[in-house]
Amino acid sequence: MTDRRHDLIVIGAGPGGYVAAIRAAQLGLDVACVEKEPALGGTCLRIGCIPSKALLEASERFAEAKHGLDAFGIRLTGVDLDLPRMLKRKEDTVRSLTAGVAGLFKKNRITRYTGGGSLLASGRVRVAAADGVIELRAEHVIIATGSKVAPLRGVELDGDRVGTSTEALSYSDVPRHLVVIGAGFIGLELGSVWQRLGARVTVLEYLPRILPGVDAEIAAEAQKILVRQGLEIRTGVRVLGAKREGDGAVVGVDGGEPIACDRVLLSVGRVPNTDGLGLEAVGIELDERGRIPVSDGWVTRVPGIHAIGDVIAGPMLAHKASEEGVACVERIVKGYGHVNYGTIPAVCYTHPEIASVGKTEDELIEARVLYKKGSFPFMANGRAKALGSVDGRVKILAHAETDRVLGVHVIGPRAGELIAEATVAMEFGASAEDLARTCHAHPTLAEVTREAALAVDGRALHI
Ligand code: NAI
Repeated sequence: MTDRRHDLIVIGAGPGGYVAAIRAAQLGLDVACVEKEPALGGTCLRIGCIPSKALLEASERFAEAKHGLDAFGIRLTGVDLDLPRMLKRKEDTVRSLTAGVAGLFKKNRITRYTGGGSLLASGRVRVAAADGVIELRAEHVIIATGSKVAPLRGVELDGDRVGTSTEALSYSDVPRHLVVIGAGFIGLELGSVWQRLGARVTVLEYLPRILPGVDAEIAAEAQKILVRQGLEIRTGVRVLGAKREGDGAVVGVDGGEPIACDRVLLSVGRVPNTDGLGLEAVGIELDERGRIPVSDGWVTRVPGIHAIGDVIAGPMLAHKASEEGVACVERIVKGYGHVNYGTIPAVCYTHPEIASVGKTEDELIEARVLYKKGSFPFMANGRAKALGSVDGRVKILAHAETDRVLGVHVIGPRAGELIAEATVAMEFGASAEDLARTCHAHPTLAEVTREAALAVDGRALHI
């Protein structure tokens, strides 16, 4: 067994781990990153955010070419799907980005170990590499092992007909009927992809509404729009089980007929990935939801062992993990580092996109915070009309007395980009009046945000 020494060992090379490794290297540490997959980038780059966005973009263009350009005076005939090519483009996108991370590691002189990492003791990590076991030592270790698909009792995953998002990113043909279990981010994004490519898609959601966590009014509007696009959404449905049957699958639901389909996508959430990490060996116990408890500075109960991203509490979002990675490393090296959990945006890449930052209306009501609300539709915006994408609106919630922006919720074209302005505003403690008095270029979609800010004070101009 070989023994190697570094200043910091990061376990996991997803957006939490690889960003932490880069920041640590920038700050002068000798960094090792342990990753079991051959490609760097984690779930996000390999089998999550990036490939799904590549397919969302491609499928949206296909649907537009097939059905959506007449109104623009463009007549297309003979539009055909070349699915293998579409999938190859997705794979090329992934390959170039994961290779990009490898390039960043090289540039920053980060030592990469390929193999499963586990904790032996504080400051000692074992790497089970293909060519033998290596033992690493460092003063600090960061666990950034991410999450995995949450199972559902009765759903028999077979890696083919009954699968997860991993399979749904690579179906070899368009399913005639796809049943999606769970109307969260993954279910709606990947359901949209296959619906646009021609599948009948039925989404089964346990709760009475879709997108729990998203502002209720915005989620209700999303549901209407998605149903109009052709997604079948059934809420309040309890799935009893799902299994492969012949060349297809069957899904059992409480109080209804079994649903025969050709593929099932299970997307009822994700759970922290702590398998084989050796947490017991060092005395780290998980909380009731399988997460690693951390205190200030993302330190576990064992000094020198830190944890960030999906394995700890908070939203399971790539950018949240990256923020924590940077702040955790800065805390280690410089003694300070901070994440503002009140300003972490979230984006669902359906069409139109759904994006939010800060508190939802329900959260404010529950916390008994008095608020004002301003909302403005894309329908009344020149740029949205020119784009031919007028569904949705921007909704701003501001404190009733101080006017400070408490939450911004958008459903509409490019909502994922628009939310950045709101996030910056909230980060700087802006009031709705600050947004309303900021000059916005015309004609832009961002004017809708400004109008919503004006609407907080009852003085929207264009409605
Ligand atoms: P999710 O937590 O977003 O949604 C899961 C959905 O499944 C919820 O609506 C939930 O009520 C429903 N559900 C739970 N149990 C059910 C049952 N037995 N039957 C039917 N429905 C049930 O989880 P999802 O979509 O799997 O995503 C996992 C994580 O990945 C989330 O934290 C999500 O935010 C993140 N993600 C983020 C994306 C983005 O930022 N664009 C894209 C995809 C995922």
